[in-house]
Amino acid sequence: MADFINEINRRRTFAIISHPDAGKTTLTEKLLLYGGAIALAGSVKGKKNDRHAVSDWMEIEKQRGISVTSSVMQFEYGGCCINILDTPGHQDFSEDTYRTLMAVDSAVMVIDAAKGVENQTRKLFKVCVMRHIPIFTFINKLDRDAKNPFDLMSEIEDELGISTYPMNFPIGSGVDFKGVYDRASKRILSYERGDGSREIEAIEADINDPSLDSLIGSQNRLQLIEDVELLDGAGGDLDMKEVSAGRLSPVFFGSALNNFGVEPFLKSFIEMSPGPLPRECEGGIVEPTDPAFSAFVFKIQANMNKAHRDRLTFMRICSGKFERDMEVVHIQGDGKKMRLSQPQQMMADSREIIEEAYAGDIIGVFDPGVFSIGDTVCAVGKNIKFEGIPTFAPEHFARIRHKDTMKRKQFVKGATQIAQEGAIQIFREPDTGMEEVIVGVVGMLQFDVFEHRMRTEYNVEIINEGLPYQYIRWIDNEDIDPKKLNLSSDTKIVQDFKNNYLLLFTSEWNIRWALEKNDGLSLSEFNKN
Ligand code: G4P
Repeated sequence: MADFINEINRRRTFAIISHPDAGKTTLTEKLLLYGGAIALAGSVKGKKNDRHAVSDWMEIEKQRGISVTSSVMQFEYGGCCINILDTPGHQDFSEDTYRTLMAVDSAVMVIDAAKGVENQTRKLFKVCVMRHIPIFTFINKLDRDAKNPFDLMSEIEDELGISTYPMNFPIGSGVDFKGVYDRASKRILSYERGDGSREIEAIEADINDPSLDSLIGSQNRLQLIEDVELLDGAGGDLDMKEVSAGRLSPVFFGSALNNFGVEPFLKSFIEMSPGPLPRECEGGIVEPTDPAFSAFVFKIQANMNKAHRDRLTFMRICSGKFERDMEVVHIQGDGKKMRLSQPQQMMADSREIIEEAYAGDIIGVFDPGVFSIGDTVCAVGKNIKFEGIPTFAPEHFARIRHKDTMKRKQFVKGATQIAQEGAIQIFREPDTGMEEVIVGVVGMLQFDVFEHRMRTEYNVEIINEGLPYQYIRWIDNEDIDPKKLNLSSDTKIVQDFKNNYLLLFTSEWNIRWALEKNDGLSLSEFNKN
């Protein structure tokens, strides 16, 4: 039992978020290096040199140099078993990020020191905040000219509405970058330009000692004295309660590319970040150390490996221990018993069949097409149902047809499977078949991914005809005949694949109009099913 509890408590499951190019991939790779998870950090996905980060999967990602899907990586470090969930950096995939964040216990936000808080940081951060999980900040690229560190922290505080607590503080930046001062130990970690592969051992240093000048320069030392005074004077110890509530972010400065400040970050992170958190379910809370296995589906992905033509469902284990070949119940599958087939853990694009996994871990299982995002599986005899994961309302719509009528079957299969993964949402006009569908997406780039995947994975060329709608609302009233509604001429009635009726609108004005002209009509932005 003690072993079981220890296994769970030593799990750390987190996601890394950032604006594209801030250095998320680089940081992920350096972290993996510390865990010995990869022999060589393939450096970074090269837009120019065609090297790809281990965490990048799909071809479209390689072509565009963006991260589309989130992958899961596990490694051991400092007695902890660490699961990193990569998230797509591009805003068009924030829904995927949101789902990934549902599966983690903390998040790391990477910020480019020269750019500060960027658009996508803002958007992803909002998603993060919805979960009230601890957020750690890594301010990256100090080896380049950076903004003033105090300004960077104010920016985070003002723009993201979270307090900050610098764990270390940079000494200079760019060509003048000398290292960081660790506040807790009052030690200096000095930075040496070179091959960038190592950091000098931390030196015990009294910052008032002028002999330090030879290492960091007198100007820098005097500046540091002033900075540290300011920081200490600003008061406040690191309040772990505030960190746990996601209201205070510990901030680390460093340079991922030069592997500077990464290991100290990792060490502090595993100390401060929580192990698997309890999770709400219908009618209560599930504790991770509850011996009964439970998990929920947060991601489904078909054809990750073209040679395998498979569909993998990713589950976050919320309680207990998973053992290979154990029998579980799929709650949303009418409580059907099943064995999770070939449970796998991911190491980027290589997979390993696992024998056991614990609360906090992510497992991928082969899915014959039965799972949906948000589903619960649990030990036989248990009746746990985790709260669902809401779908974002799509903001772009297109009418999609297949070019070649002979390909109808593949078209239906592809569109349905990709929709089940949650990458797109599909609708149809009432009383029509699947000859053509209306596809809704949160970000335009998802159309490209859809088209690309239909071509490469299902061998279907599609015709995409953009539609002018921007808003979607589910009709809550079950007793209303949608065809009898009084709607503006540019409002469209569609159905989802559970036959719920929805309305597509071109403007908010039209939504108001529909509500005003139809007494008792109730519309909602989220699908409650
Ligand atoms: P992302 O996943 O957040 O999109 O960022 P990624 O790690 O791919 O990093 C983006 C670029 O920034 C990469 O350059 C990477 O080498 C660089 N980078 C990451 N960390 C640091 C750092 O600490 N210092 C410096 N100077 N650069 C860093 P790239 O893809 O090769 O593009 P390019 O810079 O060659 O155009």
